[in-house]
This record gives sequence, C-alpha cells and structure tokens, in this order.
Amino acid sequence: MQSFKSLFDLRIQPVFPIVMYSFLILGTVRLVLDGFKSSQSHVFKVYGRPQGGKNKVPIVVLSRDRIDEKCNVFEGTWVWDNVSYPLYEEENCPYLVKQTTCHKNGRPDSFYKNWRWQPGGCNLPRFDPLKLLHMLRDKRMMFIGDSLQRGQFESMVCLVQSVIPEGKKSLQRIPPMKIFNAEEFNATIEYYWAPFIVESISDHATNHTVHQRMVSLDSIANHGKHWQGVDILVFESYVWWMHNPMINATYGSPHNVQEYNVTTAYKLALETWANWLESNINPLTQKVFFMSMSPTHLWSWEWKPGSDENCFNESYPIQGSYWGTGSNLEIMKILHDALQELKIDVTMLNITQLSEYRKDAHTSVYGERKGKLLTKEQRANPKSFADCIHWCLPGVPDAWNEILYAYMLKDYRNFS
Ligand SMILES: *[C@@H]1O[C@H](CO)[C@@H](O)[C@H](O)[C@H]1NC(C)=O
Ligand SMILES: *[C@@H]1O[C@H](CO)[C@@H](O)[C@H](O)[C@H]1NC(C)=O
Ligand SMILES: *[C@@H]1O[C@H](CO)[C@@H](O)[C@H](O)[C@H]1NC(C)=O
Ligand SMILES: *[C@@H]1O[C@H](CO)[C@@H](O)[C@H](O)[C@H]1NC(C)=O
Ligand SMILES: *[C@@H]1O[C@H](CO)[C@@H](O)[C@H](O)[C@H]1NC(C)=O
Ligand SMILES: *[C@@H]1O[C@H](CO)[C@@H](O)[C@H](O)[C@H]1NC(C)=O
Ligand SMILES: *[C@@H]1O[C@H](CO)[C@@H](O)[C@H](O)[C@H]1NC(C)=O
Repeated sequence: MQSFKSLFDLRIQPVFPIVMYSFLILGTVRLVLDGFKSSQSHVFKVYGRPQGGKNKVPIVVLSRDRIDEKCNVFEGTWVWDNVSYPLYEEENCPYLVKQTTCHKNGRPDSFYKNWRWQPGGCNLPRFDPLKLLHMLRDKRMMFIGDSLQRGQFESMVCLVQSVIPEGKKSLQRIPPMKIFNAEEFNATIEYYWAPFIVESISDHATNHTVHQRMVSLDSIANHGKHWQGVDILVFESYVWWMHNPMINATYGSPHNVQEYNVTTAYKLALETWANWLESNINPLTQKVFFMSMSPTHLWSWEWKPGSDENCFNESYPIQGSYWGTGSNLEIMKILHDALQELKIDVTMLNITQLSEYRKDAHTSVYGERKGKLLTKEQRANPKSFADCIHWCLPGVPDAWNEILYAYMLKDYRNFS
C-alpha cells in the first residue's frame, strides 16, 4: 500500500502538503474599427475618458499593440526592469486583500516586483488601462475559479483602477462574487468563487476546506446562471483537484458518492463545463479564456538538488529550463483535448511555464493562513507555514493579465 501510494504520487503530486491556506476572504468591446491599416498605425489618436455618458470613443489598436500571429508569447524569459515595473504599487491599490500584500506583510526583499515577461519572438503590448477600459465599455468581464484566480482578478483591478477617479469606482462583495465597477465605462471586472468550476461542497465563499471535497461532476447550473451573458469569461481550476490522487464525487445520481481517479473526474467536470458553454455562449459576442495551471514551488530540491525546503527566502527567478512535478501534464493534456473538442473557441493561456520560473514570487510567510496573517512564531517556521502556491502582488498574475490584455487586443474585431 505504501509503495503503491508513492508510485502514484509520481503521477499526481498532492499540492497541499499541510493545509489549505486559501480561506477565501470575501470578505465593447465596443471597439470601433480604427480605420487605419496597421502599417499606418503610427497615426495616433488620443482617447480619453468617456464624456457625456454614451459617447463611444474609438480605440486605436496600433501595430505594436498586436502580437504576431506566429509568436508564442508563452515562451521567453523574465528580464530585469526596475524602470517600468511594477505596473502599480501595492500601497496605491486599495483593493488588494492581505493575502497578497507581501511587502506590507513584512517581506524584506522587493526584486520580485521588477521582472517583466519578455516573449522570445515578439514584444507584449504595453498595458494601457484606459484602452482596456474602453474595450470593456458596457461589458462584464469575469474571472472564475479558486483563490489563484482571485489573485488574477485583483491584479486586473489594480492594473486599471488608478486611471479611474475617486467616486467613479467601487468594489462590492456579494459572496461568492466580487464586483469591481468602473462607473463611467459601465464596465465591471468580476470574480466568482468556484474552485472546481462544477458544483461542490466547497462553493461557500469562505467556509470551505480542501480536506473534505465532494464534487458534483455533472452539476454546473447553479454557478452557470451567474455567468450567463458575461462578455469575457476567464476560467481556471486545478489546485483543488490535486490534494489527493482520488476524489469523492457524484455523477448521475446525487446520492451515489464514489471515489474517482482525479484525472477521470477532471475530464468529466470539463465535459460538463463544455456542454454548458455550448448551450450558453454566443461565440459572436462572448469570449472565453482558460488559464492553464498556476505552478507551485513546494519542494526546493526540484530546483536546488540536495536542499530540503520550499519557496521561502527565494529572491530570484529560476534560470534555464525548469518544470516542476506539481504541474501535471496529464491534466494539461485533458484540458487541451477538451478545448479541441469544443464547438466554440476557447483560448487557453498557457501561463504555466513562464510562472514555473518564479520560485521567488510566492507569498511564502508574508501572507495569510485561514484568513489571518501569520504570527511571528509561524513565520519563523517556513517549513510548515510558507505558502508556495499563492503569489504576491504586484507580481506574476500581472504578467498573466498583460497576456490576457494582448489577446483581447488581438481579437478585438471579433467583438461587437
Ligand atoms: C535598478 O536596477 C539597477 C541594476 O540592478 C540598479 O543599478 C539601480 O539602482 C536600480 N534602480 C532603482 C531605482 O532601484
Ligand atoms: C451597461 O452594460 C450592460 C452590460 O454589461 C448593458 O446591458 C447596459 O445596457 C449598459 N447600460 C447602458 C446605460 O448602456
Ligand atoms: C461551515 O460549514 C459546515 C458544514 O457545512 C458547518 O457545519 C459549519 O457550521 C459552518 N461554519 C460556519 C462558521 O458557518
Ligand atoms: C470519501 O469519503 C469517505 C467517507 O466520508 C472517506 O472515508 C474517504 O476518505 C473519502 N475519500 C477521499 C479520496 O477523500
Ligand atoms: C487514473 O487515471 C489515469 C489516466 O487514465 C491512469 O493512468 C491511472 O492508472 C489511473 N489510476 C488509478 C489508480 O486508477
Ligand atoms: C536567506 O538566504 C540568504 C542567502 O541567500 C541567507 O544569507 C539567509 O540567512 C537566509 N535567511 C533565512 C531566514 O534563512
Ligand atoms: C503548455 O506549455 C507547456 C510548456 O511549454 C507544454 O508542455 C504544454 O504542452 C502546453 N500545453 C498545451 C495544452 O499546449
């Protein structure tokens, strides 16, 4: 039994060695075609805040804003850039939760904020908050998933909020949702807690634990009704599945609980999700993204052979090729295959590899556990208490959003 389990673990690495840290505290693209061919796009049109309510301001997408069709933006390197990065400061974004404010929580080094993701074959467009808000005019954008996805949502809010004056922006908490409203644009950036995407007993926004998982592999309607009509949907789900190679779930009858192999369960859940998309999404007006798994850095021997720690006290990205065993390629393949079979286009943003390099960017001991900042004693014991799953902000999720932004610009003609 012992050896069976350890063999098994080579395939599915349990990604929560001790506890689940992530007690959730909930606490158009009316893109007017620019009319210029991209070769002429040095012609720059100044766009500003919307005036007089419904005035639509054209968005000019410059050629340097468009990533090349052939460019794989997910391959590249992190380059030191303390001139342009971070894109916002922790203390200037009032919407960050304590879980991500590493600097405020006592993190002594700050290099982790100054890295820019540089694709090998092209440049990412410079993130322009006003351009993004104009793309979102009269639209809703929603991030759906677990606490990692919440980090990406917060990053997006921080990336745009500074250009909106006081009194014209707000954040509402309506569990299991968070809704950021950019009033003048009639635009919202939203977050929806659904750690398995499909329904589960972990759907309560704050009262949930990864130790007791029970997933309804064929149920999604209760979530889905909140996603209906959303213009841009960004899904993510991984880490909650990986706690254990087997998972309790129902399929068919809600009373027939069985232990499922995680790979099988994940596949069934994605089928349920795919069916929901096919009967609820209008691909002409709605756009769907799926974020690949966010890597963890729980075992330092993976990048520093012979050591026996985790991401704590790591200040620099990994140089050279690296892929941690926590990022399960079988799950990646299941996701890939599910998206291939879908009748509508879902864009997968494969951010796993670029994030793999960032062993330095996790919250480590400068975050929360069960909704509370770590105590001094807990901080002194990083082996048990470092969180090598979540990310500091500003940080890696900002790069994910720069890529998401690049894809939105690239696709903007497809929106109406
Ligand atoms: C930026 O980084 C360079 C190179 O490491 C360093 O010399 C410089 O002092 C840094 N500037 C700031 C403002 O931190
Ligand atoms: C605001 O946006 C919503 C879609 O998110 C749309 O249904 C509504 O008509 C818009 N309101 C105005 C005044 O344009
Ligand atoms: C959390 O949920 C469990 C099981 O559903 C319930 O027994 C418990 O009372 C809840 N705790 C709080 C604080 O609501
Ligand atoms: C499934 O549920 C049963 C009963 O609660 C429990 O004994 C078992 O450990 C669970 N299996 C997993 C993989 O969590
Ligand atoms: C779980 O599923 C995977 C993929 O189908 C398979 O390789 C593995 O042997 C299964 N494990 C168990 C214990 O059934
Ligand atoms: C962190 O690492 C540095 C060397 O990189 C070392 O000097 C320092 O003692 C470490 N700090 C702790 C608390 O382990
Ligand atoms: C995502 O990127 C990784 C690393 O480059 C690669 O191994 C994997 O196959 C990619 N996944 C998909 C679905 O393309």
